[in-house]
Amino acid sequence: MLIKTTREIPGSEITDEKHYLQRRDFIRLVGGAAMIAGAAPWLQACAADPAAADFAGTAGPAVVPGQTALANVKPKVITTTEKLNSFEDITSYNNFYEFGMAKSDPQQYAGALTTSPWKVKIDGHCAKPADYHLEDLLEPQQLEERIYRLRCVEGWSMVVPWVGIPLASVLKTVEPTGKATFVKFTTLHRPKEMMGQNNRSSLAWPYTEGLRLDEAMNPLTILAVGLYGKTLMNQNGAPIRLIVPWKYGFKSIKSIVHIELVDRMPPTAWNQSAPEEYGFYSNVNPQVDHPRWSQRTERRIPGFFKSRQTEMFNGYGDQVASMYAGMDLRKFY
Ligand code: MTE
Repeated sequence: MLIKTTREIPGSEITDEKHYLQRRDFIRLVGGAAMIAGAAPWLQACAADPAAADFAGTAGPAVVPGQTALANVKPKVITTTEKLNSFEDITSYNNFYEFGMAKSDPQQYAGALTTSPWKVKIDGHCAKPADYHLEDLLEPQQLEERIYRLRCVEGWSMVVPWVGIPLASVLKTVEPTGKATFVKFTTLHRPKEMMGQNNRSSLAWPYTEGLRLDEAMNPLTILAVGLYGKTLMNQNGAPIRLIVPWKYGFKSIKSIVHIELVDRMPPTAWNQSAPEEYGFYSNVNPQVDHPRWSQRTERRIPGFFKSRQTEMFNGYGDQVASMYAGMDLRKFY
């Protein structure tokens, strides 16, 4: 599956044309408003913005309390012609154990999380370690919309229009040294607001994840800050999360506060809690079953049945398979 740009796939194939046109207008209008206001070019308060209020996307409300419209977003990068999941699907069926273990818990409880101000520390084996305010991290970057499949190891999947920046461009700014071979990511630890972190039996907190450096630098890997053209809802990992579309969803760590360049494979939350169930690599693979869930097929939310064939690397093999040359794909990693 190749990455296709908007020029190659008409947006009307992905969303219905009325909404597609509204969306293009929305990006243009909000972008213009941001320039006029002289605000951070990627962020535009939308509560009082009639252009943003008109935007309906493919589904869901135009303005949700706590969200902000994103401006200056590059044209879509579309990797699938499958129908997008609705805003409602994406924001109401979540895994975010810091807020509880039921799928509805994150939507119900994540509002308690304070996401502004937000800092991300980037350090370890690099020449220019720094503590970034989120605004400073995003300011020099242009946001991109990335329409990706998301496949959870539990056997369900969605198609999500993320907005974010390539992780590679962020890592390049801190200049990794030759010692950096892996990247470790850590979620915020704030049990007062993330009440699930008081439950020590679920996972070792804070949630951590990791990638090999070449995986982190792959052009598909992004740090997402929005979906459907607006900032992330807390339940989806506001204000900034990882998206690695060819791996099971648990690798895509939410609400990141620390990115560290390291010289060995870092421990990760799920691998530590059940190493025989969750490998470090965890590439989507229909040939290797999880002990409790077959991975051969998947259930597209909101559907009930596992009626879709799972694709190797979640359909992104053309972009990523070469990174795993020599690995036996029938094995658990
Ligand atoms: N990140 C943190 N910090 N905590 C979590 O519980 N769950 C993971 C991942 N990132 C999780 C996390 C899992 S299991 C999945 S499937 C995806 O987030 C779900 O992302 P979504 O809720 O936006 O669909």
